Amino acid sequence: MTTSDQIKAAADHLAKGGITAFPTETVYGLGADATNESAIARVFELKGRPATNPLIVHVSGPEMAKACVLKWTDSAADAASAFWPGPLTLVLNKSKLIPDNATGGTQTVAVRMPDNEMTLALIEMLDRPIVGPSANPSGYVSPTRAEHVQRDFGNDEVLVLDGGPCRAGIESTVLDLTGDTPRILRRGVIGAEDLEPVLGTVLLSDHAESGRGDEPVHSPGLLGPHYRPNVPLVIVKDAFDISKTIADAGGPVALICPPGQRIRLDQPHHSIEMPGLAKGYARELYAALREADGVGAKQIIAVLPLGRDSEIWDAVRERLHRAADRSDQT
Ligand code: TXA
Ligand code: MG
Repeated sequence: MTTSDQIKAAADHLAKGGITAFPTETVYGLGADATNESAIARVFELKGRPATNPLIVHVSGPEMAKACVLKWTDSAADAASAFWPGPLTLVLNKSKLIPDNATGGTQTVAVRMPDNEMTLALIEMLDRPIVGPSANPSGYVSPTRAEHVQRDFGNDEVLVLDGGPCRAGIESTVLDLTGDTPRILRRGVIGAEDLEPVLGTVLLSDHAESGRGDEPVHSPGLLGPHYRPNVPLVIVKDAFDISKTIADAGGPVALICPPGQRIRLDQPHHSIEMPGLAKGYARELYAALREADGVGAKQIIAVLPLGRDSEIWDAVRERLHRAADRSDQT
């Protein structure tokens, strides 16, 4: 099948209420027609996602976004013209086009135009927006390759559109535009320093900062487990100081390590060397967590990358801390 045949088949599947996983520049999404209530309900069911956690609605451009929201504000128009297509999700008050179950019962909707030709063609062919949470079981590591999605959801029901590895590798920045001042609800590739020249002051919610803020939760999906491998993950600051962690593991470990920390672990341990630059690290992060999860280790150890002055490093560390967080387990 040619690529355009595949896109056509995927659009037909969505039009009939089916589920299609689609590539984006960030991670793969688990897609359904964003105007079809029962297809949306199936996405929640397949992921095991709490019904209160709203989905992102993917659009082919600002025109389609306008139909999803009550008011396309000046800030939304400015942000879209500066960053779309791209990894920036805008939260606005929602229109009636989007069923309440897509937005977890809230009257706001998160919209984004992904930077991926296949998926933009898919949305255009369907001629409707598509909901798309990351295509992983709720709480588990996000997918950055079609194989990741196949492993978790590959069956006759879910069609997987293969767009190769995702370029950015971590999810979009979620920006709330419903208040007086724009507020980042989830960190991503695009940071406050990128947004401020376009939008003026931008706030960072406590949850985006630490994952454990005590302010009211603006983005319900930021609570609970996230990005978490099945094998427990610990984060260490220094690769040279892991012998105790390895001894404590009581079995083989999988080590995720930045380059240049000359630590060699022999069989039965497993080492994954990460790229040194922020973009490369982010691109490989979820594939590394999934690889580490699949080698029969008792413990995954990630050496915290120390890169500074980059939104991407902050977003990477936030993902790693959440992946290691087992505070909800006893
Ligand atoms: O990069 C991405 O954003 C990927 C790709 C597939 O587009 N999608 C993604 O979706 O990460 P998901 O469902 O895994 O994460 C969406 C996040 C959640 O934290 C959710 O709570 C938040 O966006 N969100 C969605 N709608 C919202 C709304 N109306 N208000 C506040 N937060 C919202
Ligand atoms: Mg997700």
